[in-house]
Amino acid sequence: MKRDEAIGALVSPPELSELSEFSEDERRTLYRIIEARRDMRHFIAGAQIADEVLGRILGAAHKAPSVGLMQPWRFVRVASAARREAIADLVSAERDATAEALGPRAGEFLKLKVEGIRECAELLVVVLAPDDGTVFGRRTMPEEMALCSVACAIQNLWLAARAENLGLGWVSMFDPAALARLLEMPTGAKPLAILCLGPVAAFYPRPMLEEEGWRQARPLADLLLQDSWGQRP
Ligand SMILES: Cc1cc2nc3c(=O)[nH]c(=O)nc-3n(C[C@H](O)[C@H](O)[C@H](O)COP(=O)(O)O)c2cc1C
Repeated sequence: MKRDEAIGALVSPPELSELSEFSEDERRTLYRIIEARRDMRHFIAGAQIADEVLGRILGAAHKAPSVGLMQPWRFVRVASAARREAIADLVSAERDATAEALGPRAGEFLKLKVEGIRECAELLVVVLAPDDGTVFGRRTMPEEMALCSVACAIQNLWLAARAENLGLGWVSMFDPAALARLLEMPTGAKPLAILCLGPVAAFYPRPMLEEEGWRQARPLADLLLQDSWGQRP
């Protein structure tokens, strides 16, 4: 199979009987993958991902739910080294702007690694496609529902990557208009994520922002409400 065909190929559909019920082991595996997923910024430089593996991961992303079955995602695989370098420059500029916006925490922020663009095996840009006018489910929140659909695809991709023992890092520090120009996108297309994907030496045991003392994740109980905003279960 040629590389393009492999990347476009979906995993062969499972038998219906395989889809109806999951075993205890399968359930445990799913929760383990969710628990072990991390946002990764450190990759093994020079590593590669087999075409079938990349095809499976993109196939998982493409299985995501979407409002009105709109499928508003597009995936740009960045194969050109020059384009990758130009993307790294865009992110570097935004990282500096973020540091400035952070004021007193700028120095602390600049010590954090926020992307692995140059080292990761594959670089993907996930794009919100120009609006196709879907109304079903989007009458009151058209842009938000399209964005949520793309986020569902990215989460599928993230979990599939982890199941393949590959790291993934979501980079959102870039000027979307500049990235759209660089990748020659049509009017209305909006890049939402630069995804660094590839083998890693080790997965962080906890979110890197926690490990580095930037911020602590809150427990679910703090974010769970009942019946009204002010009430807890
Ligand atoms: C929408 C979104 C944008 C993000 N952008 C960045 C980014 O630009 N750079 C970065 O280092 N991490 C980025 N992250 C990763 C988060 O920092 C990370 O998910 C969070 O700290 C929790 O860590 P974990 O994913 O390992 O559980 C982003 C995550 C999301 C969901």
